[in-house]
Amino acid sequence: NAQAVAIKVEPQEDAPQISKHIYGHFAEHLGRCIYGGFYVGEDSDIPNTAGVRMDVVEALRELSIPNLRWPGGCFADTYHWKDGIGPKEERPSILNIWWGNVREDNSFGTHEFLNMCELLGTEPYLSANVGSGTPQELADWIKYTNHPAGTSPMPELREEYGREEPWKVTYWGIGNEAWGCGGNMTPEYYSDVYRRYATFTTDWRNSDGLVRVASGASSSDYNWTEVLMKNIPKNLIEAMALHHYSVIDWGNKGPSTEFSEGQYFTIMERALLMEELIQKHTAIMDKHDPEQKVALFVDEWGGWYDPEPGTNPGFLYQQNTMRDAMIAGTTLNIFNNHADRVKMANLAQAVNVLQAVILTDEEKMILTPTYHVMRMYKVHQDATLIPLSFESPEYTHEDKSLPAISASASRDAAGNTHFSLVNIDSEKAHEIQLDVSGLDLSKVLGEILSADKLQDHNSFDNPDKVHPESFKKIQLKGGTLSLEIPPFSVIVITAK
Ligand code: AHR
Repeated sequence: NAQAVAIKVEPQEDAPQISKHIYGHFAEHLGRCIYGGFYVGEDSDIPNTAGVRMDVVEALRELSIPNLRWPGGCFADTYHWKDGIGPKEERPSILNIWWGNVREDNSFGTHEFLNMCELLGTEPYLSANVGSGTPQELADWIKYTNHPAGTSPMPELREEYGREEPWKVTYWGIGNEAWGCGGNMTPEYYSDVYRRYATFTTDWRNSDGLVRVASGASSSDYNWTEVLMKNIPKNLIEAMALHHYSVIDWGNKGPSTEFSEGQYFTIMERALLMEELIQKHTAIMDKHDPEQKVALFVDEWGGWYDPEPGTNPGFLYQQNTMRDAMIAGTTLNIFNNHADRVKMANLAQAVNVLQAVILTDEEKMILTPTYHVMRMYKVHQDATLIPLSFESPEYTHEDKSLPAISASASRDAAGNTHFSLVNIDSEKAHEIQLDVSGLDLSKVLGEILSADKLQDHNSFDNPDKVHPESFKKIQLKGGTLSLEIPPFSVIVITAK
């Protein structure tokens, strides 16, 4: 019999708050994310509010999504926001060169997106066009969305188009993947471009309280972080965005459902790399910003596989299995445990693209295993981190191994303690013993997401195959919480 995993629970007075924004999402003009996913138009038979599908809105409200990033991604650096305002029939179209070369009619623009965020009860995060735009366009967009009515021509135009109150957008991405689709820039060049754009966003003191997000590194490009942190004055930057996808090989990503154990292992290896990436990028940030004024955002993350057979390869539509639930559970634990510096993260992407939480097919909608993990983990939003320490058993495949168990914990404002546990081992269950002697607990509730096979997923024919269930096999005795976590499963415990 293998030894139980002994987890020490170590509440700390100065522990950071887990920003709710770690549970953020991303919606790009890509495939069927916006058109068909979020937005079906007012004339659709699918129930909608101003063209936005209400089934999607309700499902996302249930997740309490804290923010939504838009309009890209790569698309953002081709997007000219003024093409997406005013009477729809007069809006020019745009060719989506990155994603399938489809022509879009710009019927979903700034008003549609920001009003949708109000409907969702979420904060918008706008990605500005730096690659092919101008500082003036960005400055105008900020005035259009944020300045009070009647104060200058941009808010006047907003009023003319039907919106008096500003929306007040706090989060502004200054370009996206500037090292790639955002302009193929060097870090030295982008730092200068960033400085110029950031200068025109607000006044001397940033009295608008904007959070300006620099386009950060791709995965382990530490030189990118080094150069940006060295070259960008700290009064011009509030956050830096890292992108990291779990992908086997960009030329051969493997199927989203019929994957092998080896492919599963490699994806988990890539996902768990997030721990090292955060440690190393933040160490560089700390060197140049010892007061930790600049936050780390991970504004694109998730699993990336070959598109579903028969779909447009440029649309990045993929299914979502228990493997994705493993990526989500472990990655969110990593973010929680680094809550001191990671202040926002955005899963790529919300609907019908990459590791989506929602898939739609015409009027049908399904929730993916990743959705369920996000729903179970929402208890951590804005709660105070409780550091944990333990040694994980290994999950071994052929001659390689990974830590099988991942965990994080927090205490919310109501005094409830939450533990999220993941076992990525494809075969072995593990016994867990949480030392909660310092917490004075009397009542424990649990929820589990597990399945028969790692490849299990929800489909339009079988929409509820993978779903969370209540988990009762938890014992609280003598200051110890004991349970057994089955292979490839996620458990969230609430203790009072
Ligand atoms: O999420 C899909 C794409 O991945 C985004 O447009 C881009 O930023 C990244 O390369």
